[in-house]
Amino acid sequence: MRDPHENDIPHIKFKDVSFSYPGEKENLIFKCNFSIKKPGLWMVVGKNGSGKSTLLKLINGIIKPKNGFIYSNANIGMVFQNPDHQILMPNCRSELLININQNISQNEINKKIEYVLDQVGMTGFEKRPVHTLSGGQKQRLTIACALISDRNFILLDEPTALLDQISQLKVLQTIKNLTSDLKPPLSALWITHRYEELTYADAVAELKNGFLSNWREPSKFQYN
Ligand SMILES: Nc1ncnc2c1ncn2[C@@H]1O[C@H](COP(=O)(O)OP(=O)(O)O)[C@@H](O)[C@H]1O
Ligand SMILES: [Mg+2]
Repeated sequence: MRDPHENDIPHIKFKDVSFSYPGEKENLIFKCNFSIKKPGLWMVVGKNGSGKSTLLKLINGIIKPKNGFIYSNANIGMVFQNPDHQILMPNCRSELLININQNISQNEINKKIEYVLDQVGMTGFEKRPVHTLSGGQKQRLTIACALISDRNFILLDEPTALLDQISQLKVLQTIKNLTSDLKPPLSALWITHRYEELTYADAVAELKNGFLSNWREPSKFQYN
């Protein structure tokens, strides 16, 4: 029997997607096929310049494929490398408020703010000015913003690149928890060039010379 909630599960599918920037002859992404059909922490690894950010721009529709098709029913949220390029408001509460996209009562708003801050390990941070947050706390605030706007699929573009190791691990652990323990769990596509992060993934694919590999278990990847 088909699962009655099947259509609610966010999914993304690429069918023979190729892409090159205007004026470039070579395809940066070539006949890319993959799908993400269930929640979890999916990671794409690749060297600098391999096209990882371009892949995310294709997924969220900022750019269109030259050939092929992209299907998605996901409600996508983004987390970028530098949270300072993303956070607009002076404190955590006001930043979360501008991300709530439905008309709900003050009481429900307060409950929601408390809930999402708790989910990212920032209970009690509501009134904190953004400039007093560490880089990792800012990244977790951007994740809380995705949660409060009811996103079910988060794309993270090297979200730990600017963080120290402790913050890096906290952000990783936050996404790991949200993609496994939340009900229903979140889907996340995490882009990285750091091979040591792959151990947290449910599945890993490598972007190299325009090709995206099949999804594999993280243990199949090694430092190189
Ligand atoms: N808007 C753009 N116009 C032309 N070339 C671009 C543009 N954005 C990125 N590129 C080029 O595409 C290649 C891949 O970039 P990018 O997707 O940012 O890689 P990564 O995120 O893996 O470092 C690079 O050579 C980059 O210079
Ligand atoms: Mg990039």
